[in-house]
Amino acid sequence: MSDADIGLVGLGTMGSALALNIAEKGFRVAVWNRDEARIGEFVAEAGELAGRIVPCTTLEALMAAIRPPRPVLLMIPSGAPVDSMIAQLQPLAGEGDILIDAGNADFRETVRRIGEFRDSAATFMGMGVSGGEEGARHGPSIMVGGEPVAWERIAPVLTAIAAKYEGEPCAALLGPGGAGHFVKTIHNGIEYADMQMIAEVYGLMRDGLGMAPADISAVFAGWNGGRLNSYLIEITAKVLAVTDPQSGTPIVDLIVDAAGQKGTGRWAAIEAQHLGVPATAIEAAVAARNLSAQRAERATAAAAFPSTFAPGQTTPASDIVRELEQALLAGQIVAYAQGFAVMAEASREYGWNLPLDTIARIWRAGCIIRSQFLGEIAAAFASDAGASGNLVLAPAFAALMAETHPALRVTVGRAALQGLPVPALSAALSWFDSWRQARGTANLIQAQRDFFGAQGFERIDREGPQHGPWGAPHAG
Ligand code: 6PG
Repeated sequence: MSDADIGLVGLGTMGSALALNIAEKGFRVAVWNRDEARIGEFVAEAGELAGRIVPCTTLEALMAAIRPPRPVLLMIPSGAPVDSMIAQLQPLAGEGDILIDAGNADFRETVRRIGEFRDSAATFMGMGVSGGEEGARHGPSIMVGGEPVAWERIAPVLTAIAAKYEGEPCAALLGPGGAGHFVKTIHNGIEYADMQMIAEVYGLMRDGLGMAPADISAVFAGWNGGRLNSYLIEITAKVLAVTDPQSGTPIVDLIVDAAGQKGTGRWAAIEAQHLGVPATAIEAAVAARNLSAQRAERATAAAAFPSTFAPGQTTPASDIVRELEQALLAGQIVAYAQGFAVMAEASREYGWNLPLDTIARIWRAGCIIRSQFLGEIAAAFASDAGASGNLVLAPAFAALMAETHPALRVTVGRAALQGLPVPALSAALSWFDSWRQARGTANLIQAQRDFFGAQGFERIDREGPQHGPWGAPHAG
C-alpha cells in the first residue's frame, strides 16, 4: 500500500535518528538499509513509533510503499555510495519523484547529479542537515537546495522535524541546485573556525595560565551565560568537566591531540579560494587540524625547538581570562563575517540569490554552531546595512568589533611572545587589520609583477594600464 509520506535509505546513526524523528511527528516513513538485518533491529528499537515505520527489504518495495510523488531521503556516506544508490533508484523513480541527498556532500557533486537528472522524470536535490545524532532525532537545522515545486512536496515533513527557534522551523529552501549543500559546507567551515578558536583559548588557559581542566570548564560555563552563549561553548564546558572513571584523570588530558576531519571544512576553504574570498580563519582552522595530525613530526620539532619562553607574566590571570572572552568574540565575528562573505559571493557567482538573513535564522537552533550571536547576524542581514556589505560593517557588529579587537590584539601578541599557537585567532586579527587598511602594501607586489613579468599596473595619478621605468631587461 502506497501510504508512506516519505522514504529513507540508510539506517546508520543519522538515518535512524531522522526516521524516528519523522515517525514521531506523525508521518509514515518507509525505510530501507543495505544490511537487511539492521532494518528489523531498527523497527524493534523504534518502540511505539514502529507503527509509522514501513520496513522494506528491497528498493522496489520502498518505492512502492511511498505515496506519489515520492520523496526519498538518502542518509548514506557521501561520494561513490550516493552515485551507486542513485543508479539503483533512478530507474525506479517516476514523474515528480524526488531523491534527496541529505548527507554532507561537495556541492559540485550535487550540481553534477542534478544535471544527470535533466532528462529524467524524477528530480534530485541536495540538503544539508546539521545537529549530529541528537539534532537528527529531536530537531536538526535543514538547509535545502532545489526547485520550489519539490520543496513544497517535502516542506511539511522537513519543517515538522526541524528544530524550532521561538516556534519558527529551522528549515528552508535556500536556493536552486547545489545551494543547500554549499550553505552546509560553509556552516561546517565556520564550525571548524569556531572549534579551533575555542581550542586555542583553551590552550592559552592550559599552557599560558597553567589552569586545570575543571577551572577552564568553569570559565567556559561562565562565558556561556554571556555574549558567547552557544552550543559549542556549552559542550566545551561540559567536556572539560568530565573525568575518566578508571583513573580519575580529566578525560580531555587523555585524548590524543590529533583532530580528525571528514573534509567539509576543507571544502569550505577550497570554495572560498575558488571565489577569491578571504576566509582566513576557516583556512587556518583546516590547516591547524592538518598540523595536529602530524603528531610524530610535532614531537621531533618540540625536541628540536624547545620553548624558551616562561609562561610567567605580570597581568593577573583573571584579567587575562576576561581578555580571552573578548578576543574569542572578536575572532568569532571575523569567522562568521568571512563565512557569510563566501556565501554572498557564491550567491552572486552562481545566481542563487541566497537569503543570508534566513540562513542565519535557520542556524539559530538545531545546528552545531547555534548561538545567541546568530540572532544578531540575522537582524544585521535583514537590515540594509548588513545586506550591502561585510557583516563587520553592520552597526551592531562594528560596535562589537571596536569593543573587542583590542583584546584580540593583546591575546595574539601575548601568545606570540609565549610561543603558544593561535593560528585562527591571529588569522582573524590579520584579516581585520588588512581589511581596515585603506592603503595596503600590494602596490609593491604590483611593481614586482611588472618588473619580472611586465604584467602592468594602475597608477593612483593616471588612467589606464602602466609599466614601471625598470630599465631592461625586465625579466629575471
Ligand atoms: C553538523 C556537523 C556534522 C559533522 C561533520 C563534519 O553540522 O552536524 O557539521 O555534519 O561535524 O561530519 O565533521 P568532521 O569534524 O569530521 O569534519
